[in-house]
Amino acid sequence: MKEWQKETVYQIYPRSFQDSNGDGIGDINGIISRLDYLQNLGIGLIWLTPMYVSPGNDNGYDIADYYQIDPVFGTIDDFERLLNEAHKRDIKIIMDMVLNHTSNENHWFKEALKSKDNPYHDYYIWKDPVDGHEPNNWVSKFSGSAWKYVPELDQYYLHLYDVTMPDLNWRNPKLRNEIFKMLKFWANKGIDGFRLDVINNISKAKDMPNDTFATPLDDGRNFYTNGPHVHEYIHEMYEKVFGPNKFVTVGELSSTPVSEAVKYTNPKRQELSMAFTFHHVKVDYTNGNKWTLGHYKLTDLTSILSKWQVQMNRQGGWNALFWNNHDQPRAISRFTNDEKYRDQSAKLLAMVEFGLQGTPYIYQGDEIAMKNAYFTDISQYNDHESINAYNELIDNGIDKELAIMILQQKSRENARLPMQWNSSKYYGFTTGQPWLKPLHHDDYSVEKVLNMKDNVFNFYKALIFLRKHKAVLVDGEYKLLDANDNSVYSYERSNNNSKIIVMANFTAQEQKRKLAEGFNLILGNYENLQSNEDTVTLRPYESVMFGKKF
Ligand code: GLC
Ligand code: CA
Repeated sequence: MKEWQKETVYQIYPRSFQDSNGDGIGDINGIISRLDYLQNLGIGLIWLTPMYVSPGNDNGYDIADYYQIDPVFGTIDDFERLLNEAHKRDIKIIMDMVLNHTSNENHWFKEALKSKDNPYHDYYIWKDPVDGHEPNNWVSKFSGSAWKYVPELDQYYLHLYDVTMPDLNWRNPKLRNEIFKMLKFWANKGIDGFRLDVINNISKAKDMPNDTFATPLDDGRNFYTNGPHVHEYIHEMYEKVFGPNKFVTVGELSSTPVSEAVKYTNPKRQELSMAFTFHHVKVDYTNGNKWTLGHYKLTDLTSILSKWQVQMNRQGGWNALFWNNHDQPRAISRFTNDEKYRDQSAKLLAMVEFGLQGTPYIYQGDEIAMKNAYFTDISQYNDHESINAYNELIDNGIDKELAIMILQQKSRENARLPMQWNSSKYYGFTTGQPWLKPLHHDDYSVEKVLNMKDNVFNFYKALIFLRKHKAVLVDGEYKLLDANDNSVYSYERSNNNSKIIVMANFTAQEQKRKLAEGFNLILGNYENLQSNEDTVTLRPYESVMFGKKF
């Protein structure tokens, strides 16, 4: 059993975590000042989203200089201090690494623009116009065509994301060597691993054909998701960097089937430690379309989670478990109840996640039940993806009010609100004006939660502790107990020594369910259990974990 299979990862979105100098943007010194808080929570690793030099069109996922920390976050010395301070507390640091694209302000791209025979030109993906148009019909994930015309060169470059984020050409061995060199630079600083941004998109089909758009999900992705050489490229990184440095790595693998996720994460193949996949957080998309008012059925959610539990285990893959990250609206607002049953909901989601097989991730604020931003006007948004989606909805004749409701439900900006540390105006996040302003004052904060009896923070703490000490949570086989239950998600984990049962009531109504024999309550999100011999009555959003030793 690997250490990172028992530990919990905490994701920090530095921009929104803790500001230390009053400029309204979170920074490295802010993170350092909160390490004791994280140590108290019990996490073993921190994943930091990008802090490299960037114009910030995609909040750092558009890297202009891979070797430098953006001054907004601090200096390289600050970063080294953070590493040191984290290591002193037995916390590992995983850095985000964006290798599918760079910013158009990256030195490489600036050179690439100069001429077709500039040595850097071939670092990116260029195509000549076809009949005066885009080389194919692929759609950018941030709306519109995935191609941008450059008149000076009479060529288009590919950008699967924002137009300011050109895709890198991994077929070019020179580019690959530059990347390996850069990864080694960070490895030599003493970091402990990487989270690899959209890594399964780096290898594009050679001829890049038009998409037939056969299903509503199609946008060209079939020609670059898990593309022809992706496993070779990742294995090459493993041999050169991840393996020799004993790195913990997690790949962001959107639109990936289990069979592929297994290839990325089965240790025999020497690629990545674990996989982020997204099928479960797409459960409320309407026919695959994210930008709709979605509804979900619990059985759809449990069937997706179960499929990944069973099949990854069977084939030796490893899941990263999560509900939230900086690209997802808050699960508490989306799948449960963030008002009347806020505490129970936060705990229920935590328990369901931590009971599954994989490495659990906490996104900053989960541990204090932070909820969606509920912005009421597009001017309150900063995120390009959300703003583009809004404009597209309006262009398609959707009225403003509905478009805003859709964003309230689906926009990733919901998760990017500053961390709520105390009850002051901007929650102790900054003494200045936060880069993203909360609209409503929410009375939940670290300070308040820690003073509550049986609070969410301590519930997470208990789960983190259990993961470290109960092997069955790591190696136990998973079984869904009732695939047709649309209200209560019940599953079992078992190994040769013990068994765990998790039951989670995803409704605001009481639900009576059979109680399995011989089990003891390990943890629950209500003060006591309502049960008689063979029945348990689960109250609104109640979740319970039972255990039994053989
Ligand atoms: C990943 C990141 C997201 C970013 C995108 C492009 O999905 O998590 O925040 O916008 O990649 O880099
Ligand atoms: Ca700052």
